[in-house]
Amino acid sequence: METINQIRAQFSALQQQVYGKPLVYFDNAATSQKPLTVLELQQRMSSGINANIHRAVHKLSADATELYETGRDEVRKYLGADSREQIIFTSGATASLNLVASSFGHQFLKNGDKVILSEAEHHSNIVPWQIICERVGAQIMVLPVNIRGEISVDQFSEMLDEKVKIVAITHASNVLGVVNPIKEIVQIAHSKGVPVLVDGAQGIIHCDFSVKDLDCDFYVFSGHKIYAPTGIGILYGKKELLEKMPPYMGGGDMVDTVTFEKTTYAPLPLKFEAGTPNFIGAACLAPALQFASSVRQSAEIKLYEREMTAYMIKELENIEGLTIWGNPSNRELKIPVFSFTVEGTHPSDLAQLLDKMGVAVRSGLMCAEPLIRKFSAVGMVRASLAPYNTKEEIEIFIAGLKRAIKMLR
Ligand code: ALA
Repeated sequence: METINQIRAQFSALQQQVYGKPLVYFDNAATSQKPLTVLELQQRMSSGINANIHRAVHKLSADATELYETGRDEVRKYLGADSREQIIFTSGATASLNLVASSFGHQFLKNGDKVILSEAEHHSNIVPWQIICERVGAQIMVLPVNIRGEISVDQFSEMLDEKVKIVAITHASNVLGVVNPIKEIVQIAHSKGVPVLVDGAQGIIHCDFSVKDLDCDFYVFSGHKIYAPTGIGILYGKKELLEKMPPYMGGGDMVDTVTFEKTTYAPLPLKFEAGTPNFIGAACLAPALQFASSVRQSAEIKLYEREMTAYMIKELENIEGLTIWGNPSNRELKIPVFSFTVEGTHPSDLAQLLDKMGVAVRSGLMCAEPLIRKFSAVGMVRASLAPYNTKEEIEIFIAGLKRAIKMLR
């Protein structure tokens, strides 16, 4: 498809060979490749516009600050948030989740309270909650997923009692690739006055949404999974909650006045942005999200993604002994993230053999050990696609997978 060739031309990393074979990059759920517009801005800032932001009156600092704040504007637009004060830069989705768990937890969680998490959470949306719950004596309640990887909204309703103080749930699991009914979850939780945090690490790439429409209270994601550099992440939050939450880290840029007796804090979003941030990464979110928007707005690419997903499922289902984990009854809710196991083979062996054929996939516990164990697996193989992947690449992957299975059985 011509559009896809044009897109691929913007990603120099895709043009390389590994072990003398053309790279088939199917590890996009771990990190995406970066388009030229992002690489160019990163290079231009590192080599020229390199000055600390918000701190100096000189030209370079003003230019870097402007690019940093433009990154924030672009995130606001992409998320459909009301105001730029709601967009906080962190070092990644993990940092954003730790920020909320710690700061919200200190303010609002006490002994005997409950936090609801789904069974399909990434470790970064489990462990920070365990840390704060252990500290304050609160308890984690787990909303199960069924064999298809779906949660039950009715079961969720039943779990919500007056002890629940927050729900933290993934938009789409990094293992199952199943989109959760976030809008319904939020409506039900709000009817009991409970806020909802959404882990958008995968949803940000594949779901068409706005935070206003979802009405979630927090939404987090990492830049590097959506075409921006590593080390930059986002926390979106509702203003009334962010304003009530204490700072997570103290330091420069997050203060109003400081004396040894008392410090007052800067208004949002700076209250949560202590220290020199990754200003180049933040600035690069602008071209990254402009690229993501052009993809998100294209009906042609949306259709292409659906076709690729259906094709991948059909091909995987044809392999004897292979189980795809994350098979929602409504196929519209499947994003192109395919985790699977194959009888008689170990996931790491499959991934290593595929690697030698030029195909990059992820294998193992995928930072979601409770979910993998629930399905009695030692690990899984995961192939995750981006809009720059092609049908020919799926064919190479499937042929390679069949060869690898034959070699291992
Ligand atoms: N969370 C990333 C993944 O699922 C690293 O691979």
